[in-house]
Amino acid sequence: IKVQDYRPQAFTDFSQPENVAAYQAALQKVRAELLGKHYPLVIDGERVDTAERLTSLNPCDTSEVVGTTARATVEDAQRALDGAWKAFESWKKWDMDARARILLKASAILKRRRLEACALMSIEVGKNYAEADVEVAEAIDFLEYYARSAMKYAGFGSAETTWYEGEENGLMFLPLGVGVSISPWNFPCAIFLGMLAAPIVAGNCVIAKPAEDSGLIAGFVVDVLLEAGLPAGVLQFLPGIGAEVGEFLTTHPKTRFITFTGSRAVGLHINEVAAKVQPGQKWIKKVVLELGGKDAMIVDETADLDVAVTAAVQGAFGFNGQKCSAMSRLIVVDEVYGAVVNAFVERAQALKMGTGEENANITGVVNEMSFKKISGYLELGPQEGKLLLGGQAPGECGGKKGYYIQPTIFGDVDQGARIAQEEIFGPVVAVFRARDWNHALEIANSTEYGLTGGVCSNRRERLEQARNEFEVGNLYFNRKITGAIVGVQPFGGYNMSGTDSKAGGPDYLANFMQLKTVTERW
Ligand code: SER
Repeated sequence: IKVQDYRPQAFTDFSQPENVAAYQAALQKVRAELLGKHYPLVIDGERVDTAERLTSLNPCDTSEVVGTTARATVEDAQRALDGAWKAFESWKKWDMDARARILLKASAILKRRRLEACALMSIEVGKNYAEADVEVAEAIDFLEYYARSAMKYAGFGSAETTWYEGEENGLMFLPLGVGVSISPWNFPCAIFLGMLAAPIVAGNCVIAKPAEDSGLIAGFVVDVLLEAGLPAGVLQFLPGIGAEVGEFLTTHPKTRFITFTGSRAVGLHINEVAAKVQPGQKWIKKVVLELGGKDAMIVDETADLDVAVTAAVQGAFGFNGQKCSAMSRLIVVDEVYGAVVNAFVERAQALKMGTGEENANITGVVNEMSFKKISGYLELGPQEGKLLLGGQAPGECGGKKGYYIQPTIFGDVDQGARIAQEEIFGPVVAVFRARDWNHALEIANSTEYGLTGGVCSNRRERLEQARNEFEVGNLYFNRKITGAIVGVQPFGGYNMSGTDSKAGGPDYLANFMQLKTVTERW
């Protein structure tokens, strides 16, 4: 297959009025053509509807229904599983480049429909223009990157082995079989797509269960993949409830692997039930987990104040802090605590609240459950720290009822506090006063998570110390700690943040393959 070298997609510059105008035109088009749309299941290439439906609401205006999807039953899940195993018999024999070609064609379609995908996410999950744009760029990158990665696993002998006289020895990479992909609402285009495209290009068949809150963008992505030519049964689209079809599939003896991105509680539950061997099961299920974070950024007395504060605001409040990578802890050494915290509060105060469609900085959080959970932490926060900004959950903005929460900052938080340890997944930051650099690093490493982290400092030896000692899967110096780019910053965490499987990394596809060594004596 002939391809150019991989290069990540460029982001759109929304300081250019023509780009803003194009985005707004896409919003109108999506409102006219996609709003209110219903997506049935896709099983064995057929659209299958169900008696019950899942409804997707606009989080920035909860009086608006964005659309609906089918709601799969366990019988649907069983049919999807059986059909996927049937499809696997032929899909596993396809040439690697033929499978990769489908991803590249899907990428071409998604590039053409990039603005539509963005606009749909602004309405369905409240992403502003830049957040949506970066996400669709990431989705395209996953397709391009995994299509190229697949090549290195093609054919007999693709992995290096040592020559042995009188024999031919080699390693083959083989797909695992049928797996389940359970994806989150916070990157409902990019992560949904990446988590199914990687196993599929490696020769597996996938049952994709999107998050309940983002079924429309998932349906949109599935349409793109089907248009690109994915054969029937290779991708089974199964919107439904996690506790129903998710549980059924993760415990099922015929499920070969599970890839999950979401909360730590659900991830650990999946890990546990997947480990239990069911009657008739003949393999140990493979589980790939991307879980939460309580991500910290350290600012020391040598840091550039403007760099640090910009990084803090972007990392904490981008998409309302609803990223596993979001900066929810800011650790500042005592000497510059006052200056950094004042500037951080001032910058955060200037953030504009509104809808994703208005391109606001702070929009509604995804759903009522999130809204209530975050509100609980707003009540707890003042007992554990000093309220420096926000603290309210108005639940409306500009006359629209929605899940609006103010950007909130608590100062002088103790490292043992609940707001210092628990993932809030909203626009809430705990700030810590460290005695000095070493104390700051100790606070940073004081949670069970280990996803992203950052250091703003101009002392070379401290950056080198952090490089070795900061316990995270993705570490950033003198910039924000969110926004990993496919192929550039392979993404995934340590400890309770997951299996460190590194999405968008050089070996990600190997998570969905098994190796066979073959020896022939001559
Ligand atoms: N990959 C995203 C980021 O780096 C999080 O999922 O922000």
